[in-house]
Amino acid sequence: MASSVAALLFHLLCLPFLVLSKSTIEPCSGSDSCNSLVGYTLYTDLKVSEVAALFQADPVAILTVNAIDISIPDVENSILPSGLFLKIPIICSCADGIRKCLSTRYKTRPSDTLAFIADSVYGRLASPDQIREANSISDPSALEVGQTLVIPLPCTCFNSTDNFLPAIYLSYVVLVGDSVPGIAARYSTTVTDIMNVNAMGSPVVKAGDILAIPLPACSSNFPAYASDYGLLVANGTYAIASSHCVQCSCGPGNLNLYCTPASLSVSCSSMQCKGSNLMLGNVTAEPTSAGCNVTSCSYGGFVNGTILTRLSTSLQPHCPGPHQFPLVVPLPTSARRVSFSAPMPSPLPAQPGGAVPSPAPKTLLPGSLTLPGASPAGGPFGSSSRASAVHKWKHLAAAAMAFWLLLTYFF
Ligand SMILES: *[C@@H]1O[C@H](CO)[C@@H](O)[C@H](O)[C@H]1NC(C)=O
Ligand SMILES: *[C@@H]1O[C@H](CO)[C@@H](O)[C@H](O)[C@H]1NC(C)=O
Ligand SMILES: *[C@@H]1O[C@H](CO)[C@@H](O)[C@H](O)[C@H]1NC(C)=O
Ligand SMILES: *[C@@H]1O[C@H](CO)[C@@H](O)[C@H](O)[C@H]1NC(C)=O
Ligand SMILES: *[C@@H]1O[C@H](CO)[C@@H](O)[C@H](O)[C@H]1NC(C)=O
Repeated sequence: MASSVAALLFHLLCLPFLVLSKSTIEPCSGSDSCNSLVGYTLYTDLKVSEVAALFQADPVAILTVNAIDISIPDVENSILPSGLFLKIPIICSCADGIRKCLSTRYKTRPSDTLAFIADSVYGRLASPDQIREANSISDPSALEVGQTLVIPLPCTCFNSTDNFLPAIYLSYVVLVGDSVPGIAARYSTTVTDIMNVNAMGSPVVKAGDILAIPLPACSSNFPAYASDYGLLVANGTYAIASSHCVQCSCGPGNLNLYCTPASLSVSCSSMQCKGSNLMLGNVTAEPTSAGCNVTSCSYGGFVNGTILTRLSTSLQPHCPGPHQFPLVVPLPTSARRVSFSAPMPSPLPAQPGGAVPSPAPKTLLPGSLTLPGASPAGGPFGSSSRASAVHKWKHLAAAAMAFWLLLTYFF
């Protein structure tokens, strides 16, 4: 009896401190990398450029991968609201036999702790222990200000396919109140698919677990020497390529990557298909007795500053209608201004250790880029949760109960 009470106590006492979060690990070999996404909830109001600096990502790429309107002037300095959920593009590498992203760097600021960096700044994508191990920190209480830390991020590739169809994987941190059916519905997948991908015995998750969510995507077949080799664009979203010269979209009608010139303000190499007067994205259709003769000029990757184009002709049963673009949502902005007391992420000058260098230019001409597609008012954005606060209360409550039990047992 005493021992079972002791075991119970041990359980209750340890529960708040030993939160064993599960995450999906994909074994790998070799040194290939792939495009992947992490789901990130803003812990405070942040500029687009500050979110980008946290992940060493291109600010425009972050917005396009979330199908957010980028046409407003100075979009990089817009302030995004605390609690906003964003997908962030990352490069998933293979290290020590498992898939992970090790290219993210964070420069510590005054009063940072590993727990704050892990749980708040990076929204529980890494645990304090994982950061400690990745950086061989022996004394976590002695973090130096300005120290550069590797932030290991979870990612998966699974051959960039799901059920033999192209897919890009999102590492999703489960929030308080999430359920597997809810997550499946939100990402247009099924409970079975999520369970299979994550090798789950039952569809049960808890806050802090990290799931790999397959998102249907358009794949590319650029040559391996193209700098955007392996480009994957999730259904309903956009990507920016060729140093901001080309934008590619996926869906909604089919999963064929569709790329067009992105901008007139940036100097770009020719986007005309050789031997034709067609530009990137142009499609001509000519009804014939045998069907529709469709000629298209499509994007073939970015090689040494040159935009590769491909001219192709095919006979199709029906002529295609005008191209449908995915919907673009307005930029969610914060009503508040970032105050000078708010912690600011420290952008890093270089991108050390990144698997694939991004050729994206650092500055954008105001209003130089637009995405096609309607901009409905509102959108699927908003304060998604106050998960960490709720979580802390649960821990405190559990700790208080354990303490109370301990008192009644001993006295
Ligand atoms: C990976 O996907 C490609 C198609 O994208 C397929 O040909 C290949 O067989 C897949 N490999 C594995 C190991 O599943
Ligand atoms: C792509 O998204 C659209 C809506 O945005 C949806 O109707 C369509 O079924 C999706 N396609 C796939 C393959 O999931
Ligand atoms: C070809 O593409 C350019 C640039 O996207 C566009 O302005 C033009 O209207 C297109 N022409 C045809 C015939 O589709
Ligand atoms: C289809 O169109 C292309 C370009 O317009 C032309 O070169 C080709 O001969 C056409 N093919 C047929 C079968 O009409
Ligand atoms: C890119 O350019 C460099 C030097 O100009 C050259 O050595 C290399 O072969 C080129 N790569 C490709 C894929 O054309």
